[in-house]
Amino acid sequence: MSPETTAVHVVRFAPAKLNLTLAVTGRRADGFHALHSIMVPLTLGDALTVRIAGSNATCDSLRVSGLPVTSEPDNLVLRAIAGAREAVAIHHERSEAPPALLATLLSKRIPVAAGLGGGSSDAAAAIDAALGAWGVTLPAEALSSLAASLGSDVPFFQAGCGAVVTGRGENVEPLPAMVGTVAILLVTPRQPVSTAAVFRAYANGYRPSGDRALRISEELATQMRNDPSPRVLLERARDLALANDLIPAAVTTAPGLAGFTAMLGRILDRPVCQSGSGPTLWALYATLDEARGAARAVRQAIVDATLPLIGDGEPFVAATLLAGAVAPGVPENAPAGDVPAGNAGYGPDAARGPEVGHRLRTGRPATVQNWTNRRSRSGDATEKRLGPGTEPGGPGPDGPESGPRESS
Ligand code: C5P
Repeated sequence: MSPETTAVHVVRFAPAKLNLTLAVTGRRADGFHALHSIMVPLTLGDALTVRIAGSNATCDSLRVSGLPVTSEPDNLVLRAIAGAREAVAIHHERSEAPPALLATLLSKRIPVAAGLGGGSSDAAAAIDAALGAWGVTLPAEALSSLAASLGSDVPFFQAGCGAVVTGRGENVEPLPAMVGTVAILLVTPRQPVSTAAVFRAYANGYRPSGDRALRISEELATQMRNDPSPRVLLERARDLALANDLIPAAVTTAPGLAGFTAMLGRILDRPVCQSGSGPTLWALYATLDEARGAARAVRQAIVDATLPLIGDGEPFVAATLLAGAVAPGVPENAPAGDVPAGNAGYGPDAARGPEVGHRLRTGRPATVQNWTNRRSRSGDATEKRLGPGTEPGGPGPDGPESGPRESS
């Protein structure tokens, strides 16, 4: 919190997430639903830039570029910063000045209200970026409770790796990094879905009978703990399409989603899965090229009107990768310079990751470390100290038009 930090820009990458599975295992006393879900971060993500605000500022500010999102004060980014400031005040009683006001810039690439966790990821990134800008840390328990207070998915993003998530989302068991590439086609109908509305529909009986999703989720968790290879996922793709207990509730909440999903499955000729409470649909591919080919096929089907449009227009279509994977045969703690571009699961972005700044990951076992976040554990390597007025470029690894950018 020294005066010279006014020149610091802290940049954090906020990845989207996918629920490979999502089983609802009961209703909790606090009204939330208990879950068993395997969640993974993607290379598609938002970029958050935070700097100490100028002396004229009277409050924390947020500017948003890219996809539209509310910039009202209740945006999760500002709530996360406010929460972090409160926590710092509690844990740093003897500090002379309260944490400075912050100016934030959010470059939005994750569709909103889509089941991809964009808002929660932004919140986790904002906590970390704010602490970085202030030059302070918080105890692990304070970080965890702040995350959980902001949203059920925020603890997952704070962990920053593939995980088995239970409770309402607060119990995060990191999984070993995937060894090899897993590519994903994302198709998000332009029909925002409220998570609360989907859970309400679930509670009102729009749910599958039996425990198929839980069975698949538990089996896959065991497999991924023992054999974190793409093969495991690709072989179980058909099961994954059935392993989301929120599908009937999402279909009820988003009219047209069932027909859209069925037609997408026909166009892709492979199982189509739902992420979280929807409406994002996804399919697995062995390579990024295949996923890009599938994205082209979907765009053509939109042009041909084979794929029915639902909601407000054309869906968001992107080819992306599971983040945080390591290349086969290369030690997990290999230096960043050894990353063979295009070979790691993080793909072309692997070499760029630390440069643009990824979030600090705290409390993670070494087994889930990977190249992209290896340097961030030491703190400073993830922060750019730039001259005043310099805007770092957003990392945005994937885009609806181009897919992940190639490394230079
Ligand atoms: O925690 P989050 O803000 O993401 O949740 C949005 C809403 O979804 C909650 O208010 C709750 O109604 C519902 N929810 C739930 N059980 C969960 C997560 C969310 O019932 N595990």
